[in-house]
Amino acid sequence: MTAPRERGARTLEVTPKEAATETDPLFSADEIAKRVGELASQISADYRGAGGLVLVGVLKGGVVFLCDLLRAMEIEVEVEFIRVSSYGASRASSGVVEIVSDIGTPLKGKDVLVVDCIVDSGLTMGRILDHLSSTQGPRSLDVCSLLSKGARACPEARPKYVGFQIGDKFVVGYGLDLAERYRDLPYIAVLK
Ligand code: IMP
Ligand code: MG
Repeated sequence: MTAPRERGARTLEVTPKEAATETDPLFSADEIAKRVGELASQISADYRGAGGLVLVGVLKGGVVFLCDLLRAMEIEVEVEFIRVSSYGASRASSGVVEIVSDIGTPLKGKDVLVVDCIVDSGLTMGRILDHLSSTQGPRSLDVCSLLSKGARACPEARPKYVGFQIGDKFVVGYGLDLAERYRDLPYIAVLK
């Protein structure tokens, strides 16, 4: 039996029983894999022959989606990461978004697609887009998010590529957390 992962007195491991009682499944691993494949095909077709695309993954929530999307791409891509301040243990954005760790390689003149697992109000993505466009001067700058709740507070952050449009519910799994839990679920679920 594997030992639970401890942080202080708290157990981070989400057992199958906990997952079943604390969450309602929304998108299965198979549904996600199918949609990720469709997105990768569409993005590959759109950027084919354009001279290279950079995927900028948003840490930490976007990392699982980025890894699956990357492996399904049919064109060569470069990968960078950006890390922004998160919700912490809360379910709602503080509205103040800090760039905690910037990308490592200049993006000037390149086609850039920022990849995250979810866009909610759009404040986080709006801040990332402002930052990259003002500091990097990319040739193009767009967003791909597996999930979107509509980006009502920041319409310019609306993703060009969306896997699933969802309503106003808090979801976990496939990289998305609540206070660092549930990221390891291979499916997406609504927290009860
Ligand atoms: P926004 O700034 O309101 O668009 O929120 C974006 C960020 O908040 C995402 O990158 C996630 O880290 C987090 N987030 C928003 N909604 C959810 C959710 O339903 N579950 C988990 N994290 C979320
Ligand atoms: Mg989070």
